[in-house]
Amino acid sequence: MKLGVCYYPEHWPETMWSDDAARMKALGLTTVRIGEFAWSRLEPVPGQYDWGWLDRAVDILASAGLQIIMGTPTATPPKWLIETHPDILPCDSQGRPRHFGSRRHYSFSSQTYRRQSARIVAAMAERYGSHPAIMMWQTDNEYGCHDTVESNDPDARAAFRIWLRERYQDIEALNQAWGCVFWSQDYRVFDHIDPPLATVTEPNPAHVMDWKRFCSDQVTAYNQLQTSLLRDQIGDADITHNFMGHFTQFDHFRLGQDLDLATWDSYPLGFLETAWWDSQVKQTYLRTGHPDFAGFHHDLYRSVSGGRFGVMEQQPGPVNWAAFNPDPLPGMVKLWTMEAAAHGAELVSYFRWRQLPYAQEQMHAGLNRPDNQPDRASDEARECVQLLAELGELPETGTSKIGLVFDYQAGWAIDIQPQGQSFRYDEMCFQYYTALRQLGQNIDILSPDSNAEGYELIFIPTCPMLSAEQLDRFAASGAHLVFGPRTGSKTTHFQIPSGLAPGPVQSVLPIRIPRIESLRPGVSEGCGQLRVERWLEQVESESLTSEDGIIWQNDKATYIAGWLSSESLQSLFHGLCDTYGPDPFILPKGIRIRRRGDLLFVFNYGAPVGSYEALSTLLDQAVCLTSSKADKAAEIAVYRFV
Ligand code: GAL
Repeated sequence: MKLGVCYYPEHWPETMWSDDAARMKALGLTTVRIGEFAWSRLEPVPGQYDWGWLDRAVDILASAGLQIIMGTPTATPPKWLIETHPDILPCDSQGRPRHFGSRRHYSFSSQTYRRQSARIVAAMAERYGSHPAIMMWQTDNEYGCHDTVESNDPDARAAFRIWLRERYQDIEALNQAWGCVFWSQDYRVFDHIDPPLATVTEPNPAHVMDWKRFCSDQVTAYNQLQTSLLRDQIGDADITHNFMGHFTQFDHFRLGQDLDLATWDSYPLGFLETAWWDSQVKQTYLRTGHPDFAGFHHDLYRSVSGGRFGVMEQQPGPVNWAAFNPDPLPGMVKLWTMEAAAHGAELVSYFRWRQLPYAQEQMHAGLNRPDNQPDRASDEARECVQLLAELGELPETGTSKIGLVFDYQAGWAIDIQPQGQSFRYDEMCFQYYTALRQLGQNIDILSPDSNAEGYELIFIPTCPMLSAEQLDRFAASGAHLVFGPRTGSKTTHFQIPSGLAPGPVQSVLPIRIPRIESLRPGVSEGCGQLRVERWLEQVESESLTSEDGIIWQNDKATYIAGWLSSESLQSLFHGLCDTYGPDPFILPKGIRIRRRGDLLFVFNYGAPVGSYEALSTLLDQAVCLTSSKADKAAEIAVYRFV
């Protein structure tokens, strides 16, 4: 695994660059990411490129022996471009432009912006595509950040109508699919259809679903424009995009097909603050981040481009963008870095080299302070360099016996029609993931279209639009399938299936769901040994029975007809692992482990001293390679099985 850093030479006097490069190298870093926000300096005047400064920066970094990751600068179109072509700007739900003055101020559908993006990307690729020090290209920066996947602008409206015409061919087919007879929503021509935004009350869910699919396709098409231009010029260099955490507004599996590897930006403390966790959880993990935040995303992004992934931005200290921005516990930057290694990352790149004393991100820490003195994260990066050197070549990551299906479309369907406001898709996936990690399991996150061969247990937290083909593929794998509530509850056109939920799942489990209810926070129903919160389903079956009315099972599959409490979920999964999967063992809260080949990594996210004796049987067969045994918060240990 390589360690690197994000660097913005254009922010600093040129006289500092050589020293910066030498210090990066001395720290043991091997990669440096540059360029991704530099358009106004690369083309200060329309059509007149100024490559001189970037040529010199590339030369200095390359001469210091660093490998370069070059970003295309399209997340920040310059002011002169917006003045000439205001149609580039994205629009809010009311169709009003969102303005220049921060970043991501473009619509993915803007025809003008696609031409302008192609021009700057082609110019950069031509200039630097064959530079031997450039190992990787990054397209744009964090697609969708700042709520920019959807835009109600004229180009988007026109493209949406074309997209619908291609999908349905005939307007009557669309009226039928969406159920437009309801509330007199019938359309006579495709050109009358607008985005489902700013309506008086809830828009038609099938209309919204297609709008989300369309917006996702626009992001993919925009990215393809860049990757196809780059591929022509960059030889063997890799192409990546830096995705985000907790972000589901476009289909990353689809976009990932056009990349060599997926990378993501890991800010465990920022995301702890902005995600759904209650204040008690936020307090417990204030300075460590949630124990499953990074792991979940590593496992997700490892799957997004078929196996290769990295961390393009790693939080080095307090960030600037959450409501509260605590300092990570000393040791956490090292822990997060080594956790990426345990999950198979090939890169961790710290954001950023030096805290900048001006502009929007002046309060965001870096490896160095604004006065150019090394900050704590520098020491932790150095410790990681040493530890990685001691470990030598890391063994193959391998595949797990447990798959967990993550489906972007499922997230949209639940968002569109939650039916109970605490039914949150990503929270549910996390709850399943956490239950399995607390049982000491390695997990592979799978797309709903993935080849499921080789798994013993496949968990599908929920997948409302699971198709018959997807179901058949999972069933053919021979794994025991575990379905959460609402799976198979909608057709692709957002209708209730004619044979009721769980739709295609009925081919492996003969059950029917005639009624569901959602429950207020604080309500917890006892069903046999289980506790159910938030969501409860009634199940009918001619041939199966269930003791608690919640778990419906045969030897091929299990259906969970409710949102289980975390304790109930863990005990159910313990039993499932015992019967169908790898041996489970209960880890103390705050301890996570991950196996990679013959190595076992232990991460302490705040469990009390000595609390992982629970692991001792497993660890008896292993030699500890680190001075720490991870018996304190923010420590890691690495063991090798002998
Ligand atoms: C990321 C972004 C970076 C920087 C960073 C700050 O979302 O890609 O450019 O803004 O956050 O944490």
